[in-house]
Amino acid sequence: MVAPARSHSPPAAQAGREAEEPPTSYRFRTPGREDGQVMWRLVKENGVLEPNSPYCYILLADHFSDTCVMVDGPHGPVGFVAGYVPPKMPDTVFVWQIGIAPSERGAGLGSKLLDALLDAPGCAEVRFVLATVTPSNTASEKLFQAFARRHGAPCEVPDTFGEDLFPGANHEAERVFRIGPLARQNREEIAVETFEKHESNVRSYCRSFPTVFTKAKDHRLWDDVGREYVDFFAGAGALNYGHNNAKLKRAVIDYMEGDGVLHSLDMATEAKGRFLERFNEVILQPRGLEYKIMFPGPTGTNAVEAALKLARKVKGREGIISFTNAFHGMTLGSLAITGNAFKRAGAGVSLNHATVMPFDRYVDDDFQSLDFMDQMLRDGGSGVDVPAAAIVECVQGEGGLNAARMSWLKRLAEICTEHDILLIVDDIQAGCGRTGTFFSFEPAGIEPDIICLSKSIGGIGLPFAITLMKPEHDVFAPGEHNGTFRGHNLAFVAATAALDYWTDDKLSKEVQAKSEKIRRAIEDLIERHPGLEAEHRGRGFMQGFATSDPELAGKICAEAFKNGLIMETSGPDSEVVKIMPPLTIDDIGLEKGLKILARAVETVVPASDKRPTTDAA
Ligand SMILES: Cc1ncc(COP(=O)(O)O)c(C=O)c1O
Repeated sequence: MVAPARSHSPPAAQAGREAEEPPTSYRFRTPGREDGQVMWRLVKENGVLEPNSPYCYILLADHFSDTCVMVDGPHGPVGFVAGYVPPKMPDTVFVWQIGIAPSERGAGLGSKLLDALLDAPGCAEVRFVLATVTPSNTASEKLFQAFARRHGAPCEVPDTFGEDLFPGANHEAERVFRIGPLARQNREEIAVETFEKHESNVRSYCRSFPTVFTKAKDHRLWDDVGREYVDFFAGAGALNYGHNNAKLKRAVIDYMEGDGVLHSLDMATEAKGRFLERFNEVILQPRGLEYKIMFPGPTGTNAVEAALKLARKVKGREGIISFTNAFHGMTLGSLAITGNAFKRAGAGVSLNHATVMPFDRYVDDDFQSLDFMDQMLRDGGSGVDVPAAAIVECVQGEGGLNAARMSWLKRLAEICTEHDILLIVDDIQAGCGRTGTFFSFEPAGIEPDIICLSKSIGGIGLPFAITLMKPEHDVFAPGEHNGTFRGHNLAFVAATAALDYWTDDKLSKEVQAKSEKIRRAIEDLIERHPGLEAEHRGRGFMQGFATSDPELAGKICAEAFKNGLIMETSGPDSEVVKIMPPLTIDDIGLEKGLKILARAVETVVPASDKRPTTDAA
């Protein structure tokens, strides 16, 4: 075994006093770059440990954060364990250093940190723990032996870094302790067959991604055999801020630990009040927008149903104009304005009170679909009654990543005004920053009468939806539209914390810059694989490409999954490969995902159909 480039110090001495349980106020978490200096200070204060350079701790807390754990006491950080997974031993975590504040010695924190390390996002595959201990450090030896006993795993000393490796350094030999194999949480107990046996035939995503997922962090997921996946799916747009986003998770945990109200129908709670205030302060006011906020129930289709009912009540008309390839949800009202024939057929009843108009570029780039709509509304002989509202997605997520031009959206808003029709923007998938601005319609400069938001408004994947209406359309009588789950306070808390991302334009700018990278990668793929006969689709962080043969899109996504990338298809024939990473994905994750996608395309498109290639995306 090769010694680490820089000798690490032995873990802090605190074994032998492991019986006491740590106070419950300890919180274990993934470190961030800013914790580097805290780690360094903890090591310096410890007295027993040999500090590395301060910069080394910044790197540990940042680049190695997935294999490190910080622990906070009531007044701030009190300890950490730093580890790394050697590339040639992906099932092994090497414990680099454990640092504990002198005030916390004897609380059993060393053991707890080692256990927490196994739960760190980068340790999902770990079955062995390695650490080096000097012969004089009996406390650390006891710590690791106790850890091995607790986990019922053998503890061996297979190797030693002798003193001769540190000539003139006056450094004791380092004995290598190897603990494992470790049994990991009944991982093998849930088989894919369990879902086939017990879950309804209607299940779908588990067919596209046939594995059992056990852990998720930021833009990554892990399954029960420890395989890592880059997530280019993001819960169909519900995870714009990534899985278990540290800040949002903290807010949710704090709220629960404080016994905050969890369920409250639509009673007034502090959590809801804070969300209302913050949404106004961070989202509406800076954009000069004024809307009342309705909580229609927790899902996207709840927000759409409320919008349709409200528009009908405001205008006293039944009809709704929807657009080709629209997707608005699975309840009957939403299904009536959804294009997909397969989904519509599932209704089992006739779907009424809706008129379909061609979306932008539905016929071709030149067809003036809105002139057509205008004419249909003007012409007393067209057979189209003036509706209560028109509902539109600025980028059609499920319908094939069709992005309406801004000029088209502007003109749609004008036509709605001219014909006294309310304009509803369904921003359930394209909103919350997915296209680079909080609302997808912002670059068009329009102000819809009603806006539907769901998916990522709940921040951390919690079910949550809101329907926004201009104050003059706030006409429901008290209780006229209600439901049990409109007071999901955990979602309010996560949603409020997520709004912090919108206090400045940092995330927005990052999304816009990374969107360009995605666009270039797609264009490159299209150019290098003429056999795909593909066309670029979408904008922002909802881009992809349509293939001429729908089977290809499915095959590409399946091949990508085999290689550790999660993506889905969209479009009426599932012909579009859809790239939808969390907005918070870093450059490394984005590039990794794009490379897997490029390899999948290489594999799926017949060799004779492709030009010679240089490198992946
Ligand atoms: C634009 C749009 N509207 C509505 C919905 C329905 O949301 P939910 O599945 O939460 O009911 C979706 C879901 O994908 C959507 O993309």
